[in-house]
Amino acid sequence: MNILITGGAGYIGSVVTEECVSAGHRTFVVDNLVKGHREMVHEDAVFFEADIADSAAMETILRDNRIDAVIHMAAYSLVGESMTDPSAYYHKNVVSGLSLLDAMKNCGVKRLIFSSTAAVYGEPEKQPITEDAAHTPTNTYGETKLAFEKMLKWFDKAYGIKYTSLRYFNAAGASERCGEMHDPETHLVPLLLDVAEGKSPKAKVFGDDYPTPDGTCIRDYIHVQDLAKAHVLALEKQGDESRIYNLGSGGGYSVKEVVEMTAKVTGCDIPVEIVERRAGDPAVLVASSDRIHDELGWTPQRAELHTIIRTAWEWRQSHAKAHAS
Ligand SMILES: NC(=O)c1ccc[n+]([C@@H]2O[C@H](COP(=O)([O-])OP(=O)(O)OC[C@H]3O[C@@H](n4cnc5c(N)ncnc54)[C@H](O)[C@@H]3O)[C@@H](O)[C@H]2O)c1
Repeated sequence: MNILITGGAGYIGSVVTEECVSAGHRTFVVDNLVKGHREMVHEDAVFFEADIADSAAMETILRDNRIDAVIHMAAYSLVGESMTDPSAYYHKNVVSGLSLLDAMKNCGVKRLIFSSTAAVYGEPEKQPITEDAAHTPTNTYGETKLAFEKMLKWFDKAYGIKYTSLRYFNAAGASERCGEMHDPETHLVPLLLDVAEGKSPKAKVFGDDYPTPDGTCIRDYIHVQDLAKAHVLALEKQGDESRIYNLGSGGGYSVKEVVEMTAKVTGCDIPVEIVERRAGDPAVLVASSDRIHDELGWTPQRAELHTIIRTAWEWRQSHAKAHAS
């Protein structure tokens, strides 16, 4: 297939690009590099520096390269920022997303995989979260992703654009050549690795009095290569019916477990400071993968916490070495 990946210079997108290339697809990437890194894009993929909101550029790319399907990953995805600047999130995740869908409609591209988020569920009581849980996002980020999913439903009905929406929590880990480099960084694993590398003195743990076995919050971590495989599998097995799948571990790890494993993998002390709980942080957030397992046969292959942290750490070290030389 000829596959276009939006946001393919970002953390997850660069690994999805690698996966598409290694699966033998002709792979094209669009990224405006607002957050992404050009050097992360696989050398066998064709790169276009463009914004998905630029309809003329997008239509030219879709037509000239006879794109069969789009994997849409370009987005703004910082929860805190989405609460202080909702306008930017509606513009980037909804309005720009609509431009992309219009370009696809105008060019007759009828297949889309959407990188959504489990933030569309808000904070359900029942864990692990299944796809039929209520949609009550508690932040603008989740709300804008849900708004885009709702557009997809009507674009399917009216224009026959088939979509698969993948909802997940925390991507983590690295491939050999691509890893996590967000700025600002808000994710636990890279923040702990910053402490291991001496870039920051300690990590904050937000509350240790939750009703969990060790008192810290339990969250879902999915290896970025497992996520990449899920995106490509969802595309290769996409049928005539649009689908929504959660991607999750079903179990999750506590913040304390992640801190301890990071210390073990890196061989460094990871000092932490226990601070107040954050408002709206539920004790447990874990997604169930039963549906995608049953329908498409997806199972995470790199689910162990040790593997997730080891690959992130190894990538950091090799990346730092490459930049130093
Ligand atoms: N990182 C996670 O844990 C996580 C969890 C759930 C869902 N997601 C979703 O996965 C996707 C990728 O996340 P990530 O962590 O790799 O983020 P990222 O910021 O590393 O990657 C996003 C990429 O999109 C590009 N981009 C943004 N707006 C664009 C636009 N208008 N036109 C062209 N390119 C644009 C950025 O330059 C960046 O390279 C996002 O859609 C995010 O909502 C991420």
